[in-house]
Amino acid sequence: MNNKTYNISVIPGDGTGPEVVAEGLKVLLALAGSEKLSFNCIPYDLGGERYLKTGEILPDSVLQELRQTDAIYLGAIGHPEVKPGILEQGLLLKLRFELDQYINLRPVILYPGVETPLKNKGPEDIDFVVIRENTEGLYAGIGGFFKKGTPDEVAVQESVNTRKGVERCLRYAFDLCQKRNKKKKLTLCAKTNVLIYASELWDRVFKELAGEYPDITADYAHVDAVCMWMVKNPEWFDVIVTDNLFGDIITDLGAMIQGGMGIASGGNINPHGVSMFEPIGGSAPKYTGKNIINPLAAIGAAQMMLEQLGLEKPAQRIEQAIRRVVLEKVKDLTAGKMGYTTQEVGDLVVGNL
Ligand code: IPM
Ligand code: MN
Repeated sequence: MNNKTYNISVIPGDGTGPEVVAEGLKVLLALAGSEKLSFNCIPYDLGGERYLKTGEILPDSVLQELRQTDAIYLGAIGHPEVKPGILEQGLLLKLRFELDQYINLRPVILYPGVETPLKNKGPEDIDFVVIRENTEGLYAGIGGFFKKGTPDEVAVQESVNTRKGVERCLRYAFDLCQKRNKKKKLTLCAKTNVLIYASELWDRVFKELAGEYPDITADYAHVDAVCMWMVKNPEWFDVIVTDNLFGDIITDLGAMIQGGMGIASGGNINPHGVSMFEPIGGSAPKYTGKNIINPLAAIGAAQMMLEQLGLEKPAQRIEQAIRRVVLEKVKDLTAGKMGYTTQEVGDLVVGNL
């Protein structure tokens, strides 16, 4: 029996974030009772509202507190009255960078019963994981303007790819591919035909590491081709590893083929530190407060959090419950079309634990 108390920082955030986080916490608390686990959830009111009221985005003191907890559970960041970029840079990306969450783990799984827009594809075809580098690349914020505001203006935005950052991400991907033990195929997604420095480094380190993993097929595809095959032949993929921006883009595509943002979860992982779990969709302002947003992505994020904390059995119970709910009850995963309210979907998951 596990009697440890897990300290979880909870950032409900903006828009529909609080609504979906409430359902995730409901599921965690229901599990806690029957698993003899204890979660000490510490709420943080970070997000657009606090910023508009106080001008604070992520105070250092809060960051220090978050560093002391076992994991972070995040709803959504993004507020219609805050200029785009402020909260994303100052909160979401700052957390990823400061906590060195260098892996963004985004499973793309089509559960039985869930509709995919891909014709003639089913759950047996759509079951892979994208590993997105999460602390470098074009997200590093390196660059600047020259002659800003003049007709000769120049904007430069550079992609940062460090040997250390690339290698640790690739190694994580090889290890995960081995642990998954499915097709044992790791696809590097880059653009070696154009990004002759950045992608070259990824490709070179990838080939070096491949020698250490003889049981894994080391596969390569350009990012544009990955988009094509994710639609045409998703069954070819097992684990995809890629840089920050490519990963951002292909995981939205991934979310669509697995049934939509309503079920797409992700983890920002520091394997040696504090990780953060979130539904990958945004704050969905137009659905806010209506009790119609799908909480399954947030509940799946809670499942991923438990996996990362080493609580595999409780995590599996959440996954099985989600599978039953989408097979038997919630047919359409789109907000407002589920046939159930946000809270009712949370209750269905609890009832199936
Ligand atoms: C995501 C989001 C973020 C990203 C935005 C909100 C900064 O799109 O988590 O995928 O680009 O990483
Ligand atoms: Mn994104």
